[in-house]
Amino acid sequence: MKQNITLTRNPKLITLLSLILLALIYISMFGFLDDDTPIEYEKFNGTYANPIFGNMNYSEYIPGNLPLIISIPHGGHLFPPEIPDRKQNHPNVVKSNDLKTQEIGRLLADKITLRFKGRRPYLIINHLGRSKIDVNRPIKEGVEGKDSITSIVWNDYHNFMQTAIKDVEANFGHGLLVDVHGHTHPEHFVEIGYVLSAEILSLSTSQINANPEIHSGSSIRALYTRKSNNLQFADLLYGKTTSLGGRLQSHGYDTVPSHIHQHPLGDEKYFHGGYCVQKYGSRHAEQIIDAIQIEIPTSLRIGNKEKRQNFITALSESISWFLTKYYG
Ligand SMILES: *[C@@H]1O[C@H](CO)[C@@H](O)[C@H](O)[C@H]1NC(C)=O
Ligand SMILES: *[C@@H]1O[C@H](CO)[C@@H](O)[C@H](O)[C@H]1NC(C)=O
Repeated sequence: MKQNITLTRNPKLITLLSLILLALIYISMFGFLDDDTPIEYEKFNGTYANPIFGNMNYSEYIPGNLPLIISIPHGGHLFPPEIPDRKQNHPNVVKSNDLKTQEIGRLLADKITLRFKGRRPYLIINHLGRSKIDVNRPIKEGVEGKDSITSIVWNDYHNFMQTAIKDVEANFGHGLLVDVHGHTHPEHFVEIGYVLSAEILSLSTSQINANPEIHSGSSIRALYTRKSNNLQFADLLYGKTTSLGGRLQSHGYDTVPSHIHQHPLGDEKYFHGGYCVQKYGSRHAEQIIDAIQIEIPTSLRIGNKEKRQNFITALSESISWFLTKYYG
């Protein structure tokens, strides 16, 4: 008994145990950080010389020279305490980030740049956390307080979007916007949104092809209009060798819509495309830029860096293929 007491009071032993404990804390912290701050090691590679920042550096725009715009609205890492959290509580308000999407979007842009031998996509990044701002909502919903700094940031982000779109229109006459998101749905499918609901995607192929309201209501109307001599509309949504979903599915990533998963099944959750693809996509007759929302499942974003990077490689190949085939 006596000996035990002296042992636990032994300063060397206590120091040793403390060190072990600290090491364990460090390891678990490091593991946690690895999941949330990879911007240090996955950050874009210096391929882009001149990023342009909005007010307070809360938004970032990197001009490109391909007819491709990549936007990342929900991957901001900044949560300045002087900006109050959004208080809005209506049912559709989401305040959590799409984790890793900034890292994914930046690396995606790098890999596409490599594939096009230095020609690069436009990149637009929101740096504020989603508890502070949601740039993928109308300003009334995404921002609290009309005169707040976040309303300036919201406008900066959308001015960057519009500048990029005008530039692509002027230089190429057509183009593609890819809005990068992450979801937590249990199926872990990659979800591609063309602003067509699950109900519409669930119609038969012939019904989809026969109804002009379906393609003209989609965010890739302009693409279909240009290619309608050679393709049916459903080919662009889920053809094995004619759609983005088909290409990604062929890389082994379950994707909806694709030739394997033409539409979400009854109880499966599916995001069909939010504010930015609705606003900027070519479903408006006067707009010529097509827009696609890519929703990446948790399993491909978080936890395993190698798995994430393999997916980004496949996604960069698929988008580059789509761009060459339809916007070359
Ligand atoms: C924005 O970033 C630039 C370049 O990193 C820096 O020089 C500048 O001080 C920053 N501005 C603010 C308001 O943080
Ligand atoms: C990053 O830069 C290095 C050196 O220039 C290059 O070898 C590498 O391929 C680049 N990686 C990406 C993803 O751009």
